[in-house]
Amino acid sequence: MIKAIVTGHSRGLGAAVAAELLARAIPVLGLARHRVGVEGMEEVEIDLSDAGALAHWLSGHALASFLAGCDTALLVNNAGVVSPVGPLAEQEPAAALRAAVLNVGAPLALSAAFVRAAPQAERRILHISSGAGRSAYPGWSVYCATKAALDQHARAIALDGDPRVRACSLAPGVIDTDMQAEIRATPDARFPLRQRFVDLKEGGVLVAPEDCARTLVDYLTGARFGSEAVDDLRELR
Ligand SMILES: NC(=O)c1ccc[n+]([C@@H]2O[C@H](COP(=O)([O-])OP(=O)(O)OC[C@H]3O[C@@H](n4cnc5c(N)ncnc54)[C@H](OP(=O)(O)O)[C@@H]3O)[C@@H](O)[C@H]2O)c1
Repeated sequence: MIKAIVTGHSRGLGAAVAAELLARAIPVLGLARHRVGVEGMEEVEIDLSDAGALAHWLSGHALASFLAGCDTALLVNNAGVVSPVGPLAEQEPAAALRAAVLNVGAPLALSAAFVRAAPQAERRILHISSGAGRSAYPGWSVYCATKAALDQHARAIALDGDPRVRACSLAPGVIDTDMQAEIRATPDARFPLRQRFVDLKEGGVLVAPEDCARTLVDYLTGARFGSEAVDDLRELR
């Protein structure tokens, strides 16, 4: 039996991934600040940018209870923020810290807890990365740094060499979600490449979250998952 944990399941790509997993009869435990009340999904209301709250939750038995009895366990580290956006002088330090905890700290802690919670299972960890982890963008120093960290985490996990623990840090492409709306609404002074993202939206290039989720779940549940520690979903279609 397969079971999945998805962070940021309440909106955007995470909601579409959770729906796709449920449609394939894979039970989902979702972690986000808001519940959505989808039938068949277990939900935990948690702010993953709050390291203390996450440490407290991980000290309990919720992960192991949910994963009990599965022979394949999936973790999708999807929750993330692009903000704070802007050069350093414009960044609120506390916002940079929250982004680092949400985008990196939580995926790293969840990965370790997940592997320890299901020793009986084959465990697959999928980090949702970004092209911004591989190319630097002005205004996105926090976002670029956090996504690069996920890529390097997956590479190092592969070197640990446990054949029952596979990981991939995957750039999903440009998806039509709230995050893209937020990017388009950023003042040019903070994000000089803003117009490029407006053009992508107007050019109809953005991928629907549901389409992205279908390809992503095919890959996550397929035989070649993790054969590359760092990958791009656009090359897997
Ligand atoms: N959209 C794109 O084009 C694109 C491209 C490359 C990579 N990505 C990556 O894909 C992932 C999903 O992005 P998206 O576009 O779907 O973003 P989104 O529409 O903004 O959704 C973000 C999700 O993360 C959750 N989240 C945000 N802050 C949280 C917090 N403090 N604690 C717990 N959950 C939190 C949100 O739930 P709550 O608000 O309920 O907490 C929501 O479910 C992100 O890692 C992003 O970096 C997106």
